[in-house]
Parts: sequence; C-alpha cells; structure tokens
Amino acid sequence: MSQAQSWDARSFIDLTEYREVEEVLRRGRDFVVAGTKAESDEFVHGSLIAIDGREHLNRRRAVMKMIRASQPWGAEGKLIDAVYAHNLKRVQETAEPRDGMIHFDLIDFCKRVIWRVTAAFVGLDDVDDDETVARFQRLGSDVVSGLTVEYATPEARRRILDTAREARRQIREEMFAPSLARRRALILEAGDDPGKRDALPADLLTSLLLVPEDARLDEELIFREMVALLSASVNNPVWQVAWAIDDLLTWLADHPGDRARVGDREFINLAVKESLRLHRASRPYLVRMAVEDTVLESSGRFIPAGAWVSGWVEKANHDPSVFGDDAGVYNLNRTVEDPRVPHFGMAFGAGPHVCLGRPMLLWEQGSEEAQGIQTKMVRLLLERGVTKDPEGVQKLAGVEGSSRYIRYDVTMPVAGSGEN
Ligand code: HEM
Repeated sequence: MSQAQSWDARSFIDLTEYREVEEVLRRGRDFVVAGTKAESDEFVHGSLIAIDGREHLNRRRAVMKMIRASQPWGAEGKLIDAVYAHNLKRVQETAEPRDGMIHFDLIDFCKRVIWRVTAAFVGLDDVDDDETVARFQRLGSDVVSGLTVEYATPEARRRILDTAREARRQIREEMFAPSLARRRALILEAGDDPGKRDALPADLLTSLLLVPEDARLDEELIFREMVALLSASVNNPVWQVAWAIDDLLTWLADHPGDRARVGDREFINLAVKESLRLHRASRPYLVRMAVEDTVLESSGRFIPAGAWVSGWVEKANHDPSVFGDDAGVYNLNRTVEDPRVPHFGMAFGAGPHVCLGRPMLLWEQGSEEAQGIQTKMVRLLLERGVTKDPEGVQKLAGVEGSSRYIRYDVTMPVAGSGEN
C-alpha cells in the first residue's frame, strides 16, 4: 500500500477521550509518526516531526539551545517587544483614526510580529523590514500549506502542492541559502575557540550545522528541518493570541474586578492556558501508527498493528471526566483535579513529540519581567486598551475540531499609543 493510499482519514481510529489520546501520544515506541506523512513527506521526510526513537531524541537535543529564555526571542529577550513596538507604530501611522480610536485587524498585526520573530529563531537573516517580512509570510504560508496537505480536500491538494513546491524553491534560494552560508562562515571563523563558539547564534540553522560529526545533516535535511519548524511555529501563536484576546475580553466584561490583573503574569498565563485548552486552531487531529497489536491501558481498547490513530485534541480537551461538566466553557476559576493534567490539557501534545516551543510561548519561571511570546503579546495588547471593534469584522473559519479567526478587527485608543 502506498503512503498516499494509506492516508484515508475515514479508516482512522478516532480517539476523543483525553486519557486515550494522551496515552497514544505518550507511548512513542508503540505509536509512531514515521510513515504517517503522505503527500507532505517530500517536505518533511527525515525531519523532527517525521522521525521516532533515538534519532528523534538526538535531533530535539540538538536544537534545545534555541528555546532558552536568554535568547533574544526567549522569555528574557527583548526581540518581541521591539517588533511589537515597530508594528504598533506602523499601525498608528497608517490606520486612519476615527473618534479617537485606531482600527486594525489583529490577525494581520500578529502575523507580522510572529513571522518576524520566527525568522530570527530559525536563522533567516535580513527578514526585518516590512516588505521582506511580508514576502517571507507569503512564501512561508504557501510552503506550510504543503505540510498539512493531507488534511485538505482531495480537489484542493494538487494546487496546494504545486504552490508549495514553487514557494519552497524561492524561499530556499532567496533566504535559506545565503543565511546558511553566513552561518557556515561564522562557525569557521569561531574555530575551536570555546568563547567564540559559545557566542555563535543559537538559531535553528546554526544549531543544526553544529551537530556532532556522526549525526551531521546534509543541506537538504537542514532545509527540510527549517520548513518543518516554520510549519510548527508560525500559525498557532497568531490564532491563539486572537482566541486569548477574544475569550479574555468577554471574561473581563463579565468580571470587571479582574481588569486590574491584566498586568499580572500569572493571571495572563492562566487566561492564555484556558484559551489553549478550549480551542484547537490548526490540524484537528494528530496522527500516529500502531507498531504492533496494542491494548490501551486507559480504556482497554484494542488497536491492531498498522492501524492509523487520530487523536482529536480539542475534543480531548473538552473531556468532562478530566475538566469537569463545564469543560466546554471558558472559566478562569477552573481547577483541574488531576495534578498530572496541565491546565492547557493537550494543547501542546504529549510524549516524545510534545511541542518544543512551549517555553517560548508561556514562561512561568524567574522574574515577573520574563514572559513568553504568547502571554507578552496578550498583555501588551490589553494594556494598550485593545478591544473588539463592534463595527468591524470578526470572521471565523475552520473544520470540525479546529477553528480560528481569519480576521479580527479591533480598536485601540489613539492617545499615548506609542507608549509600549
Ligand atoms: C500556541 C502555539 C502552539 C501550539 C498550540 C503548538 C502545539 C503543538 C502540538 C500539539 C504539537 C505536537 C504535534 C504532534 O504530536 O504531532 C507541537 C509540536 C511542535 N511544536 Fe508547537 N505549538 C505552538 C507553537 C510552537 C512554537 C512557537 C514553536 C517554536 C519553537 C513550536 C515548535 C514545535 C515543534 C518543533 C514541534 C514538533 C516536536 C517534535 O516532533 O518532536 N511550536 N506543537
């Protein structure tokens, strides 16, 4: 059976209960990702998201430095603040104010910020002015669509693949090749000097060039790894900021006493986590393949060898047996009984392929100033008085198990809007 034929979602075993989904994701030896990519295999073959076992673990280790809080894009870094301030200024200068308010689309705003920061941590140079960020966004979005092509309708797949291949070619030539060459030169320059090596950038491309000799990756695989990271990291934060703002504004309207807590890191973290639990915005289910006949300990369900299993994240995160009878409701006073279950449930997955980006998004250690990208964006926007534009458009899109705002018009007071 070819991979393309085997990717038939109608034949998948659908899991929607929290314990079952979690068990499958955790049992990485029994339920693997290898072989579960069909048409998208040409984009991700051999990359972190498509391999298992020891090789996968080593690859994750190779890029761990990238997610440290001390990096410019990390929780202690200031890159996000600078990019946010730049975009706020752009909105102020370009959006025509009405009645003392600036009106703009939050989705477009967040995309510009997140894509710019993403370029930095993957290691693409010169993606810093508005025009280049917009080009990176266009090309990157087309490539990323190729990585989830299996989830699209059969009629749309050919077009998605053609567009993705062309965008991949351009991104590789224009952005990846010169950035990789620059990093090769930096590494050569540093030689064996421990101080200079330590000062090398910690982005993905540099990290992958530095892996030990016996695990060295060729240029094609480094490129695929970069594309896989783009696909994992660019869209979700944008959509989740919009969900967090939407949910929290509604909550604050009903609980005005909580307004004073918007600057409080713990409160914002809690709010962001509750939105992450409640809404899945990207692929509605995560796919694994059973290596051999397996009985799930959590339920006694039998999964035959070779079966494809789909773990429906949002449904699992609404499981009343774990999150209570009001599991489908946004509630910042929720307490999750089981201490092993995080407040955001399975929003970041579980087991060996659990999201690598979580510490960059939510950061709960160290000083109050250290804050993840996700939580910082929400705080900065709310502190500046961003609110839903009652006369604007807020448009949802999605499929069963996944939904996101593709446009979310907001307003912000003109006065003092450069203060962030
Ligand atoms: C709100 C934003 C995000 C959400 C909800 C999210 C969610 C997830 C989920 C559910 C998985 C598991 C996929 C699976 O098991 O098949 C995952 C994997 C991953 N995420 Fe995220 N993610 C987010 C942002 C990011 C960011 C900013 C990065 C950047 C470093 C990132 C990097 C990754 C990587 C590299 C993987 C694959 C890990 C592996 O296969 O070992 N994610 N993410």
